[in-house]
This record gives sequence, structure tokens and C-alpha cells, in this order.
Amino acid sequence: MTKLKLSGVSKAYGATLALRRGDLELDSGEVHVLIGANGSGKSTLCKIVAGSVRPDAGEVLLDGRAVTVSGPRAAQALGIGIFYQELSLADHRSVAENICLPDLPRQNGLFIDRTALRAEAERYIALFETVAGAALQADTIVGDLRADQRQLVEIMKALATEAPILIFDEPTSALDRAQVDRFFEILRDLKSKGRSIVFISHRMDEIFAIGDRVTVIRDGETVGTTTISETSPDAVIHMMVGEQETLATPQAAPPIHAPSTDIALKVEGLTGAGFHEVSFAVGRGEILGLGGLHGQGQSAILKALFGAVAPRSGEVKLAGERLRIDSPRSAIAQGLAYVSGDRGRDGVISGRPILENVTPIHALRNRLLLARPGRLAEKALPALKALNTKFAGLSHSIGSLSGGNQQKIVIARWLIDKPDILLLDDPTKGIDLSAKADLFALIRELAAEGLAIVLYSSEDAELLNNADRILVFNGGSVSRELSGAERTRYNLYQAAYEAA
Ligand SMILES: Nc1ncnc2c1ncn2[C@@H]1O[C@H](COP(=O)(O)OP(=O)(O)OP(=O)(O)O)[C@@H](O)[C@H]1O
Ligand SMILES: [Mg+2]
Repeated sequence: MTKLKLSGVSKAYGATLALRRGDLELDSGEVHVLIGANGSGKSTLCKIVAGSVRPDAGEVLLDGRAVTVSGPRAAQALGIGIFYQELSLADHRSVAENICLPDLPRQNGLFIDRTALRAEAERYIALFETVAGAALQADTIVGDLRADQRQLVEIMKALATEAPILIFDEPTSALDRAQVDRFFEILRDLKSKGRSIVFISHRMDEIFAIGDRVTVIRDGETVGTTTISETSPDAVIHMMVGEQETLATPQAAPPIHAPSTDIALKVEGLTGAGFHEVSFAVGRGEILGLGGLHGQGQSAILKALFGAVAPRSGEVKLAGERLRIDSPRSAIAQGLAYVSGDRGRDGVISGRPILENVTPIHALRNRLLLARPGRLAEKALPALKALNTKFAGLSHSIGSLSGGNQQKIVIARWLIDKPDILLLDDPTKGIDLSAKADLFALIRELAAEGLAIVLYSSEDAELLNNADRILVFNGGSVSRELSGAERTRYNLYQAAYEAA
């Protein structure tokens, strides 16, 4: 029986159409999987059902009746509970308070009834007793828990709503095998009681272990629903990719470099926080892409190569010489450059002039403690021009620039003195299409001049269109190398989604 039905639901955030046409039919007593690439609109659809985002158009039917989910409270009253991908926990509160929020038991409707609160929370904590670890207790402050334990608390919070419809938006991303198994036992039990469950995961093995049906979303649109027992991981990937996309865009595909004998950077068995036994070599003039789902070790390894975090073991060689990088300063001195798309944290010096933002690396490399602004400006201008940066004057504050132009400043910073190796950590995050085109044209020019470039991008198209080779990361290691004609969206998804 159809419990919940969404038809033609859409949502735009400014110019971004997050969801174009979301359709979903959820039965009673089923686990319904939603799958789609990063940014395809899954969370947006879930938030619409849970009332935390209002749709621009479309219809939501509950038990056959059209409903307006006007907010999270309304959702709860309608019998909808949600696990939020980014978690909705109050860090400074106890586990028990978080599980029972927003319905803390009160005495006389006034004071929080601590005894009832504890008893209520302990029912849900007990469900995960064997796998949660000793620290997860009713009184523990949530901010003191590990990532997996926080995710378990968010699960308990969703379960505590006792809602007939439960939505789990990537609830297993930080859980270990035993925790996932226990969670699945609980889901099967809920299912047998007739509850309706939406489950999102990027892991194919989980989807096939727990799902009854799967709905695929591509670029904000529902493309279809199939029964899990009648499909295969391959068929699901085909639905995610779409027929016309199984090959890389031919006109945009870069020339294939012959394997360069002139190795610029060689990484052997590198292991550290978030990556494991990674080995690769990049030749001069080559653009090496790092692909896969977010957070599979790509950024972690780039940060390690740049000396921001120390690897635990393994070796890095620069032009055949063993390299000791213990800080970004030593990495810079040895010819490495690192551009992050995360402007807020790793990028701009906010509130300071453009000139100061564009020249710190030049100053550091040339040990310029006090340089004349006029001389620095002479150095900075060509780099800014190469990127087509739009700014009124070098003395203006960095904050006066658009996001994309701020990102160009961050990149130009590294180009004043050409590095040998350019590490790009999702460099186009938040910049518009024309800025992206300028940037990739420049990156290819730099490669042609002999720079070795390592590019991580969360956008598959950027890798497929610009990288000479792609290493697909999965669970912290390289699961596949794609070169030449193998660089297709299909192969990229298959390697990213197979069990790590
Ligand atoms: N609050 C927001 N403001 C602006 N854009 C947003 C916002 N939330 C989502 N988006 C954009 O909407 C699109 C869909 O995002 P959504 O979070 O629904 O994707 P998703 O399928 O859940 O992806 P993931 O697998 O990475 O969780 C993306 O392009 C995203 O950048
Ligand atoms: Mg999401």
C-alpha cells in the first residue's frame, strides 16, 4: 500500500536548481533506497518530506491525501521522522536530551523529568549496546563522542520519534561493519512492523543488503524505480549514469599523454589519517586526476603531500630524490603548491587587501619580510591577468570580490613563482562556469609548460574532461586507475561505488 507519494517536487536555491522533478512512492513495510551521485538532489528531497525545506512546486500525498509539510513540527505530527546527513545534534547537550529532543518529558508540563528522560533514552541506547562503545551513555555530552557514536545518537533520535515514516539520509557513512549490521537488524524489525523507511547510501553492498526497491535520481530528476531482487549493481549504475553519458565527452577529452619517463613526483605506499598504502607517479606535463566519492582520502593525501598533516608511513620522491616534507613551508621551498577550494578555511585572508592576499607565497619563498608594495604589485598583476580576474584595485579588500574572483586570487598566489608540482584540492568549489573554464584553460597551459599537476575534483566532469589519468579512490585507497578510453563516467562510478 502506498504510504507516501511525491510527484514533480522541485526546489531551487537561487540559481541552483537542486531538485527539478522529484518523484517517489513509498509503501508500508518497505525499505526504499534512494541513490544518485553527489549533488543530485537526494537530501533536498528528504528535507522537503521532513518539512525543513519548502518545495517550489509539486505534490506530497500521505495515505492518499495531499498534505503541506510546513515545518519539522508539522512533519512530526504527520508521522515523519528523519536522520539528517549533516546531523541535527546539540553538541553541548547530553545523549539523553538529544535523543528525546524536541519532546523532552516534563513534569506538570514544566520541568524536565530527568528520570523519565533517562529511562526513555536508555531504551534506544540499549538497541546499540553491543556495538556503540562504552562512552555512549545517557549522560555523556554529545560533543565528547566519536563520529560513529554521534551518528548512532542521530539514528536513536530518529527512532525515538516512533514515526510510521522514517528517512535515513546517509546514516552509515561513519559506522563500522558491526554497527551497520546491528542497524540493519533494527530496520528489518521496523519493516516487519509495517513502518516505511527511506534509506540513502553510496555503498552498493548496503543497498543490496537492505533495500526492497531503489529509486535513482540523476541531476535533480527521478529517472526510475526498480525492485532490488530483480536488478543488479551494474544496472543501477547504468541508471545513474544514463545511456548517453557512458562515454566521456569526446571533444573535451584531453590528449592522452604517453606515460612520461620524466617523473616529477612519486608516492610509494603512503599511509596516514584517511588514506592507506597509496602509490602513484606523476610525470612532468601530466594532469593526474583523483576521483571517487567525497572523503575517500583524496583531500587527505593532498594535504599530506603539502606537509599540512604528517603521513604515518611510506615515501615521497621528487625528481627521484627522497623528500622530507614536515610543514607547508618546507613543501613550498621544495617547489610544491597547494590550492584548496575551501576558501573560508585554507584560502583568503579576510578583511585584508587583494595585494596581501595574492603575494604571501612569493614573500615567503623569497624571504621577503618587508617588500615594497609597488614591486609586489608588478609581480602580482601578470598572474591575475592570466586568470582574467576582475578587481577594481589591488588595495581594495578581498571581500569586495565575487566568490569566483576570490578563488582566482588564491590560485594566482601560487603562480607568481612557478611551482614544479601543483596540488589542486577541489579548486573550483563555488566558482561559476566561466571562471571554471578560465581556470582549466590555465591548468592545461601550465601542464604544457612542464608542471606536474594532481587534481582532485568532486565534479566528475572536471576529471573526465581534464585529467590524463584518473585514480579512483574508495575507502582511502586507489581502487582503479583509468587511462585513455577507460576514462568514462560509467567506469568512474563503477569503481567509486563498488564495495571498498
Ligand atoms: N542550502 C543550499 N543553498 C544552495 N545550494 C544548495 C543548498 N543545499 C543544496 N544545494 C545544492 O543543491 C544541489 C543538490 O544538493 P543535495 O544536498 O540535495 O544533493 P545530494 O544528492 O544529497 O548529494 P550528496 O550525495 O553529496 O549528499 C547541489 O548542487 C547543492 O550544491
Ligand atoms: Mg545528501
